[in-house]
Formats: sequence, structure tokens, C-alpha cells
Amino acid sequence: MADKRSFKERQAALHEIADRIRPCTLCPLAAGRTNAVPGAGRADADIMFIGEAPGFYEDQQGLPFVGASGKYLDELLGKIGLTRDDVFITNVVKCRPPGNRDPLPDEIDICVATYLKQQVEIIQPRLIATLGRFSMALFFPKDARITKIHGHPLRANERIYYPLFHPAAVLRNPNLRPAMEADFKRIPELVAEISRSSKSDDSPPPPPPQQLSLF
Ligand code: URA
Repeated sequence: MADKRSFKERQAALHEIADRIRPCTLCPLAAGRTNAVPGAGRADADIMFIGEAPGFYEDQQGLPFVGASGKYLDELLGKIGLTRDDVFITNVVKCRPPGNRDPLPDEIDICVATYLKQQVEIIQPRLIATLGRFSMALFFPKDARITKIHGHPLRANERIYYPLFHPAAVLRNPNLRPAMEADFKRIPELVAEISRSSKSDDSPPPPPPQQLSLF
């Protein structure tokens, strides 16, 4: 997974992708958006959060997770001593679906193949935390249930894929709060674990499991 690109080169590459995302017209979501939302954060972040899609406030501002879910995400990051500048935050699709409907399979396929995949390749995060089921479905089997697998890290390709509830789901259902907070608190130890193991392991990485073929 070693990427020889410097921090500046990664930043430039992410800016170049963002410059392609903002005027993108590859799918019908372009017609209803105010601003596309490429994502934001450190170009060499160890931790990448992938949400579902921009909502009303994100669409207005062109930034990810700036509404109520984002405030809760900031609070969770604070509990593990991080701010959003320490991580990279983006979404499966970069434009707000009308009326906040679910993104459609074609919209997801185009946006992931054209933009998200490249963002992951540039940032090379040690841990990808999926927020909610659409993001989870990119890396985990289609029949995986978030209520079952949240907080269960999957180790593959020298990286940890970590399924979490979507912050909006937790805000809607406060019973999920203790689980969300316990899952979140494990992030630093998981990042430390994968950093140690990728430094000490000289053997070639195992082939990616089927469900990770997207990345
Ligand atoms: N919900 C998401 O999934 N992403 C955002 O950016 C905001 C809310």
C-alpha cells in the first residue's frame, strides 16, 4: 500500500479531483444540486470517513457533514482527541439526492468508480470507517446488517474497514448512542494496530476478499 507521493502531491491530486467533481454532470443528481461536495480533510489522513450523500446544509455549503449529523460527528471525534482536520470525510455520492432520497445504484456506481476510488487511492487511509449502510455496502457483503456488524473491523489489504452506524441514525434513535460511542472509541487502537502490523510485516498482502473487489 506504500504510496511514495508527498503530502503536497496528494493535496494537489485531491484538489484536481474536487475540481472535476464540482462541475460533474455524469449522473442525474447534477440537475438538483446547489453545490457538489467533494469531501474535506487531510490529504494523508490515517482515517477516512465515508458517509452516504450530502444533505441540505452540505449542498448549500459544498462541505461534508456540516448539519446536525456533522455536529455529532465532531463531538465523537473530540472524544477520541481528533478534529475533522485530522481525518478525511467524504460521501459515497457527492451530490445531494432530491428530497434526501436514497442514492440509486447507477448514481453510486458512477460516483464511486469516478471519484471515491481515486480519493482512497490518493489518501491511502489505514482505516476506512463507513457511516451507514450505503457506505458499508461498498466493502461488506450485500446481506450484511449494520445492526449486526457495526464495530466489527475487517482487516484486508493492510487496511481496516470499520462499519459504524450513520450519525443521523443515532440522532434519530438515541438507544444507539452507547454502541456508536463504544465503536468510535476503538478507532485509535485499531489505527495503532494496523500501523504496527503493516510496518513489521514484509510478506506480500493477501489477495482482497471478493466483497472488497470495488477497491
Ligand atoms: N449525511 C451524510 O451521509 N453525509 C453528509 O455529508 C451529511 C449527512
